[in-house]
Amino acid sequence: MTSEITSSIARLFRERFNSKPRVFRAPGRVNLIGEHTDYNDGFVMPAAIDFATFVAAAARNDRMLVIRSENYNDERVFDLDETDPKPMRHWSDYVRGVAVVLERADHRLRGANLLIKGEIPLGAGLSSSAAIEVATALALLNVNRDSLPPLELALLCQRAENDFVGMRCGIMDQFISCHAQAGHALMLDCRSLAFRAVPLPPNVRLVICNTMVKHELASGEYNRRRAECEMGVKLIRRSIPAIHALRDVTMEQIRSLNSRLPASVARRCRHVVSENARVVEAAKALEESNLSRLGRLMTASHASLRDDYKVSCVELDSLVEIASAHQGVFGARMTGGGFGGCTINIVAEDHVEGFVGAVRQEYEIKHFMKPDVYVCTASDGAGEVTPA
Ligand code: GLA
Repeated sequence: MTSEITSSIARLFRERFNSKPRVFRAPGRVNLIGEHTDYNDGFVMPAAIDFATFVAAAARNDRMLVIRSENYNDERVFDLDETDPKPMRHWSDYVRGVAVVLERADHRLRGANLLIKGEIPLGAGLSSSAAIEVATALALLNVNRDSLPPLELALLCQRAENDFVGMRCGIMDQFISCHAQAGHALMLDCRSLAFRAVPLPPNVRLVICNTMVKHELASGEYNRRRAECEMGVKLIRRSIPAIHALRDVTMEQIRSLNSRLPASVARRCRHVVSENARVVEAAKALEESNLSRLGRLMTASHASLRDDYKVSCVELDSLVEIASAHQGVFGARMTGGGFGGCTINIVAEDHVEGFVGAVRQEYEIKHFMKPDVYVCTASDGAGEVTPA
């Protein structure tokens, strides 16, 4: 599959730019549990999926970036010497942001021709943004005969999104795109950035159901949640100065300080603190192959995101409801930032077909939209895939 795509993208590049490119791949992700915890120094447990973004690239002899997107059938040209580059609320911001941040980090770049083709559904909460950033960073570094270790690559791409695009995302998406291991989820501590690979049982599948409702994270709700968490930390510190992030707070402390926090802030904090505890337990449950336990934790995570963090929506809730009533489903919850996008379902292999059929039918009856359903395998992290 990947080799067909890489050959086709290399051909498209040759047709457009008349030279042979190198090709780089970065996967999207699905998060099994641990939502809105990464920017609170907490825990997450994502896996990379077998949808990816590909960037074909070759160096130029000047300082221009010529970027073509096959998905948008659009092309942009940027000068790396432009002073004070600004985002334009455009697909190219992710690519340009990476170039800007690389230069600011003293990686002097030559110009490059880039051709981008992505398979990750956009705005579906499967991290198409991190994938385009990571594949671009790999491409730009490599055509400049430069490189970075995976952790620095992930941090740099997060910086491009925080500082250039203006979305204050945590580290989860870029981290998993750079570090993923096939057949595994990663249990990641977003404070220390230590992680361990947790094998996924062979007899279950990760089934992703797309509400087809696009989220618009950068449009403010996400950054607003983040600000509420920061306010929570500030207010809790008045009583418990030793804490630095919601990661350091216990459920008992939240309960006892409840009356000193604005109601919405208390709820946001309660989600983050309870979710962190669920991720720790979920990793243990997965390691012990206790899928019913994992499923109960996923159900609780969804309820908490819906009721306390308020980032779900009716379409996500109904996909979870449909899934939970189906045989062979161990767990179902919304995944990613929320406000639309996808659910993740852990489904016994021999129930997958029936499950997919039921979701398609019941969701369409309720919402007059056909949901896309993807049966995924956990894939490897980003790298070079230049065809021979
Ligand atoms: C988005 C962000 C991540 C993370 C999730 C929510 O995907 O990019 O950093 O915060 O939302 O868990």
